[in-house]
Amino acid sequence: MSLLIYNIRKIVQTEQNPVDFRRGEEMSILDCVDNGYIWIIEGRIHEFGTFSPEILNKIRNLAPDIDELDAEDGMVFPSWVDSHTHMVYAGSREAEFVDRIKGLSYQDIAARGGGILNSAQLLRDTPEEQLFQDAFQRLNEIVRSGTGAVEIKSGYGLSLDSELKMLRVIRRLKEVSPIEIKATFLGAHAVPKEFSGNKSGYIDYLIEELMPKIEEEGLADFCDVFCEQNYFTKEESIRILEAGKRNGMQPKLHAEQLSHSGGIEAGVQCAAISVDHLEFATDNDLQLLRKSDTIPVLLPGAQLFLGLQNPPARKMIQAGLPVALSSDFNPGSCPSGNMNQMVSLACILYKMTPEEAINAATINSAAAIGLSATHGSIAVGKKANLFITPPVPSYSFLPYYFGQNLVRTIVLNGMIHSFDKISE
Ligand code: NIG
Ligand code: FE
Repeated sequence: MSLLIYNIRKIVQTEQNPVDFRRGEEMSILDCVDNGYIWIIEGRIHEFGTFSPEILNKIRNLAPDIDELDAEDGMVFPSWVDSHTHMVYAGSREAEFVDRIKGLSYQDIAARGGGILNSAQLLRDTPEEQLFQDAFQRLNEIVRSGTGAVEIKSGYGLSLDSELKMLRVIRRLKEVSPIEIKATFLGAHAVPKEFSGNKSGYIDYLIEELMPKIEEEGLADFCDVFCEQNYFTKEESIRILEAGKRNGMQPKLHAEQLSHSGGIEAGVQCAAISVDHLEFATDNDLQLLRKSDTIPVLLPGAQLFLGLQNPPARKMIQAGLPVALSSDFNPGSCPSGNMNQMVSLACILYKMTPEEAINAATINSAAAIGLSATHGSIAVGKKANLFITPPVPSYSFLPYYFGQNLVRTIVLNGMIHSFDKISE
């Protein structure tokens, strides 16, 4: 299987010497090739560069059966990587959205049993097959908007059976998905009503009953905790994440989203692969992150949707951190998995430049789920997951033209993606 893409106005985010991520000032580097071609063999990028008639002859001679794709003067981007979603869920929460419009806060809604516990009740009542079909539909939507790798969390089950149900849905999605999926166990998303007033009992239950089962079935790559007031403290987060490590799961954290709760300190102490949200991160937190390998992930969709303050994105870049962007696709705080919108929002809300935002949503978000060796840029040997835009005047046109889907053609694993193929 060999594919030649030619007539490309610009190949964006190319790498001659691939890096794991870009930090600080390096986030302004966005290498491109004008008038480009990409030669793909067996799903991997074999060669790319400036197009010429000689190149075309060479490739046609070497690969006489090659399929050819005319990019029609569009730009090629590496697929977005979405390192943080909760896209397996049941039902929807627009009634809470309306309550927040009328003045209630996310915390008010949670305090009366809504929020995550609302989704948990809905999920427990929904059969596995239905959950799978709904999530599969959402997976199709994000693929259509240019995502080429995604992380999906559990965390709406909050019991052995329902957490395993969610993780099995994610495993099934992995089996049928054309894009790479990483699974995260988020049992510590909230304390379920059966353990009300007994948080330490719930943590014991997660560690003793759920984790061994999850490891036995190989259901999760990462373990995550919602480190937040009224959810899990810094100390509890460390305990859960260390137990997760012993059960083969790498740590991640929801940190400093609604208040400063010590999630970054916990993440750095546990060598988390990422800490996510960070609206309430302090200068000291940024210094801690600078000395670590933990990736800070910003989720502007959730921040905007909940009306939260901006995270210190510019300070993070100035501190030399490898800032990543993701969607947080979930029914409560961000009912969108559209990474184009997240890139636009980062430019608009955080004043990230298009170069910084594109790095954040590709190579840095790939690093936040351990995929930067294979995803997040156009580089020889990487997976041929990319999208082609219509003819646009510059790469900055993508975040500028916010709210529009400029993803015209999608190539995944070196094949032109057809949506019939992934519907079961
Ligand atoms: O990332 N912060 C915690 N978890 C989700 C929201 C989950 C929900 O409200 O259902 C988030 O924002
Ligand atoms: Fe989240």
